[in-house]
Amino acid sequence: MREGRRPRREFLRLAAGAAASLPLIGIRRADASAAEKEIRLGVIGTGGRGRYLSGLMLSHAGTRIPAVCDIDPEAARSAVAIVEKGRGERPETYTRGPEDYLRMLEREDLDAVLVTTPQPLHARMSIAALRAGKHVYSEVAAATTLDECWGLVRAVEETGKTYMLGENVCYYRECSALEEMVRRGVFGELTYAECGYIHDCRSLWFRADGSLTWRGEGHRDGVGNLYPTHAIGPVARWLGIERGDRFISLTASSSRAAASRDYTVRRFGEDHPAARIEWKCGDMTSALIRTAKGALIEILYDTASTRPHPSTTHFLLQGTEAAYLFDGNRIYVRGRTKSYAWEPADACIAEFEPPFWKEHGEKARGTGHGGADYFTTLAFLETLRSGAKPPIDVYDAAAWSSIIPLSGASVLAGGAVEEFPDFRRGGSAGAPPAPGSSR
Ligand SMILES: NC(=O)c1ccc[n+]([C@@H]2O[C@H](COP(=O)([O-])OP(=O)(O)OC[C@H]3O[C@@H](n4cnc5c(N)ncnc54)[C@H](O)[C@@H]3O)[C@@H](O)[C@H]2O)c1
Repeated sequence: MREGRRPRREFLRLAAGAAASLPLIGIRRADASAAEKEIRLGVIGTGGRGRYLSGLMLSHAGTRIPAVCDIDPEAARSAVAIVEKGRGERPETYTRGPEDYLRMLEREDLDAVLVTTPQPLHARMSIAALRAGKHVYSEVAAATTLDECWGLVRAVEETGKTYMLGENVCYYRECSALEEMVRRGVFGELTYAECGYIHDCRSLWFRADGSLTWRGEGHRDGVGNLYPTHAIGPVARWLGIERGDRFISLTASSSRAAASRDYTVRRFGEDHPAARIEWKCGDMTSALIRTAKGALIEILYDTASTRPHPSTTHFLLQGTEAAYLFDGNRIYVRGRTKSYAWEPADACIAEFEPPFWKEHGEKARGTGHGGADYFTTLAFLETLRSGAKPPIDVYDAAAWSSIIPLSGASVLAGGAVEEFPDFRRGGSAGAPPAPGSSR
């Protein structure tokens, strides 16, 4: 079938007519006086991610890190070196064990904390920080149980502190340009999305002696999709989840764990204790999510299978007017694409590149995850300075992270349908302002 071409005039009219249907992630400019406000950060968990984000936070103007915490003194020392290099001052270290972060939270000279510990610790540490009067930037996922999701929501509602989930994939240039296209109506009505985190992480599960790291323990003991936010974050933004639509229910199934066992035996041998590990998490988990407004989402999770991964994330977005395929960066837009076939999306991505990428892209590109980490850290700082709502707030964090327990429950119950809680309890999010609107 060949589609008739619509004149470009009509395409633009359609795009303009649908503007503001979905808010775009925004980097909000603070006013001049707020922009100068110093923000003092504490860091809980100074492993790879904590150290990287510490350096990045310090690369933005007006930040300090007076305190860092890790159970591993060596990791804390490495963070101290980064802060000394960045700001010429030596942060105090908190290394007296797994609860020492509570002592750090008693400090009165911290405005906010970065929670960059292993995933199962994020929620309890974030809740403690909020209740100690600190704003929180949390690494993904926000939580691993429904109780923790509710605990985060309550902590934010009761303290009024800012909580932002640092879901960097939303800020990928392609993902944020796509969000702009959706907002301007290029896709028409959205019906379906595919997304996935497919990243062979098996080498990260083990220490050299074959004992398990926290990632390996998670895969041994967890069931379902254990790391959903990189995949679901952009999709939720495109579909307006928590901004007019919401997840309703989910059903999930997992494959057997053949690649997990195969890797372990190849690396350590049949006779090694690691070879006898019973992996509860299947190699591949697929879940289908229904939304209240009738969109369907397929989300994949696979950190075990033998598959090269030029990108760890996978997306497909389907609307009545257009379709986009992340793999190979291809798009079809009715009335714009010359024939009824995929074409390279580069021109579209460039045309709809959001203002914050235009403004900061050059600086951002040198930072992690294609520049996305630059924007999550900047967004958090600007949110604190402007007093605006965070672009990825606690309701987003709870909805996206609840896929972990719900997919686990569904897999264990043979693919049973699990209902999502309504973390807003019927309340409405309202639309966060588009970039520039608070300028
Ligand atoms: N957004 C992204 O792209 C991205 C990339 C990598 C990692 N992550 C997330 O960041 C988090 C950290 O990952 P990582 O790769 O840095 O892991 P890591 O193992 O390198 O670092 C975790 C650190 O936390 C410390 N820690 C553990 N328990 C602690 C406690 N009770 N108190 C204080 N410190 C404690 C560990 O000693 C370690 O130094 C994970 O949740 C991971 O999923 C996100």
